[in-house]
Amino acid sequence: MSLIAWRDEFLLGIPAVDHEHRELIELINELYDSYSEHGSKVTTLDFLGELYAKIAAHFALEEKIMVEKGYDQYRDHKSEHEKLLDEICDFMDDFESDRSFPEGVFKDLLEVWFISHFKNKDARLHKYLK
Ligand SMILES: [Fe+2]
Ligand SMILES: [Fe+2]
Repeated sequence: MSLIAWRDEFLLGIPAVDHEHRELIELINELYDSYSEHGSKVTTLDFLGELYAKIAAHFALEEKIMVEKGYDQYRDHKSEHEKLLDEICDFMDDFESDRSFPEGVFKDLLEVWFISHFKNKDARLHKYLK
């Protein structure tokens, strides 16, 4: 079962960016599948940690490009990346303190976040780079 189902809503119509975002979502789903299958061996914290690393790597790449190209909304875009990473950290902290992992809430957070970030921030960045 996927954590995030790919939806056409995610498409920006920019092949290179769409490809990378699709890959990111596939990676997230693969991690989630392995977590669901090996729930007892692969801990939730490992899952969240790896998820965090994959998303952080994608963000780092975008931020590197923004700096190189002197992107005018670098700070704003980067701060939205940081906000999502903080929210994942909060989930990890909550899980560590009381072992609760509200999967539905987490899934919604990622979906809503991806839809709005792809459309607002990443689409604008791509237009600027063209
Ligand atoms: Fe971004
Ligand atoms: Fe992105």
